[in-house]
Amino acid sequence: MTVTDPSPIDANPDSFRRMAESTAEQWAVIGERTRENQRRVADRMIMLLESLSSISDGFITDQLTHCLQTATMAERAGADEEMVFGALCHDIGKAISVPNHGPISAEMIKPYVRDDVYKSIMHHQDFQGRHYYQHFGVPTNLRDQFVDEPWFSLCEEFTDDWDHQAFDPDYDTLPLEHFEPLIRRITAIARF
Ligand SMILES: [Fe+2]
Repeated sequence: MTVTDPSPIDANPDSFRRMAESTAEQWAVIGERTRENQRRVADRMIMLLESLSSISDGFITDQLTHCLQTATMAERAGADEEMVFGALCHDIGKAISVPNHGPISAEMIKPYVRDDVYKSIMHHQDFQGRHYYQHFGVPTNLRDQFVDEPWFSLCEEFTDDWDHQAFDPDYDTLPLEHFEPLIRRITAIARF
């Protein structure tokens, strides 16, 4: 896999120094450059996913393997592309911070997935709690507060069928290269 940082040194000498002095023409340039550089999102998500290979924190697998295995399970179960992408990136926030990694990951993928995928990743840790929160003296039924949400069943499928059991070093996990076209396809256009 070749990951290039496409961020060019494309500072615009004609742009404003204070937003209050900005013009429509200057913002048009910024908008055009931003669209041109959209592929940077895929590159940087891939870079962050790759960085998870150096994080294990006591788990039997590193966090990249866990993410890849979760996505592999989702794909093999017939999940659609946005859910597979969500599964792949559900712990990407751990590259920055473990304690609030769910919301970090969810916000990173929000412009590229539908709402039930976004919400499932946002709250996946409390759903995972069914399988381990007792070891921390935390109620294992925190997911119950979301039982009436339209994304509840998707999040249950994600956590119970894929995420919580994706720590098997002997599983036939697909490599990051397998998911690269998917990452580039999904992040090509942001929904605002
Ligand atoms: Fe996970």
